[in-house]
Amino acid sequence: MKHFMSVEQLSMVDIQSILEKSHDLRQTTCHINQRVFAANLFFEPSTRTKMSFVVAQKKLGMDVLDFNEGHSSAQKGESLYDTMKTFEAIGTNLLVVRHPDSAWFNAFTHNMSIPIINGGAGKSEHPTQSMLDLDTIYQEFGRFDNLDVAIIGDIKHSRVARSNAKVLDKLGAHVYLCAPPGLADDTLDFPYIPIDEAVENCDVVMLLRIQHERHHELSHTNQYLEQYGLTKSREQKMKPHAIIMHPAPVNRGVEIDSDLIECRRSRIFQQMSNGVPIRMAIMIKLLQEWGMIYDNTIEKRQHFIGGQRLGAV
Ligand code: NCD
Repeated sequence: MKHFMSVEQLSMVDIQSILEKSHDLRQTTCHINQRVFAANLFFEPSTRTKMSFVVAQKKLGMDVLDFNEGHSSAQKGESLYDTMKTFEAIGTNLLVVRHPDSAWFNAFTHNMSIPIINGGAGKSEHPTQSMLDLDTIYQEFGRFDNLDVAIIGDIKHSRVARSNAKVLDKLGAHVYLCAPPGLADDTLDFPYIPIDEAVENCDVVMLLRIQHERHHELSHTNQYLEQYGLTKSREQKMKPHAIIMHPAPVNRGVEIDSDLIECRRSRIFQQMSNGVPIRMAIMIKLLQEWGMIYDNTIEKRQHFIGGQRLGAV
């Protein structure tokens, strides 16, 4: 794998190896005893994805270059491609890119001589989110085959829905979609079912944020929770073992009742936690495959202070 661009490029072996590595990294972290420069080029807002990449990079011992679109030459009209080539030219070893263009990665990556990770591409793909979602589901159920997964909400504008539906289907899960009128996407070949059926029958209930920034439909969201969201009464009808997921940020009281965000079924903060080891695993895999780091420079580390185990650093 040269670049980490799309869930469609991932083989079963790739997925399995990333999940196993993430599992290992939760027990014992890794430190790369080599100088590796990483930069996170985010051209859309981000809290979780960007910051979990930064934490993952720092845990691995990388030097993280500071990039802020608003203070960069993008403001002078520099293109994404020229920005990426600039980082390559000054010696950056790995780039994470998020950009509103749904196809940015098709255009440029073949001209890059360093690994690129897709941190979100418009409405099309968010493969590292998918990997942390798979990690969360696997932690819960220990399998994907024959799990019923409902993806509910603004399917039409969600890169998370697109990536997750494709990869879960590949892994043998049964994917169902559920969207309010106007927010379905008929290019996705999965059955649409009503919200009550989805919530009552599925093992994983995955909610999506309304992507207000990508469209103007449904700007009034007063009725959304009752009609299309996870209310407390719907949650009570979920299967006993079923879990709630959401990539966040959450519109509290819109796609989900605020009280359910930290309920016993919710894995929303667990998903965020899993984002760190998953992104560490992906970066290690790419750097190894490019021959940029070697097994003997990756040191396993665990930190104990005063007998108490701290978060491994
Ligand atoms: C998602 C995204 O950016 O696509 N957020 C994330 O990365 N966790 C979902 C969203 O913004 O709704």
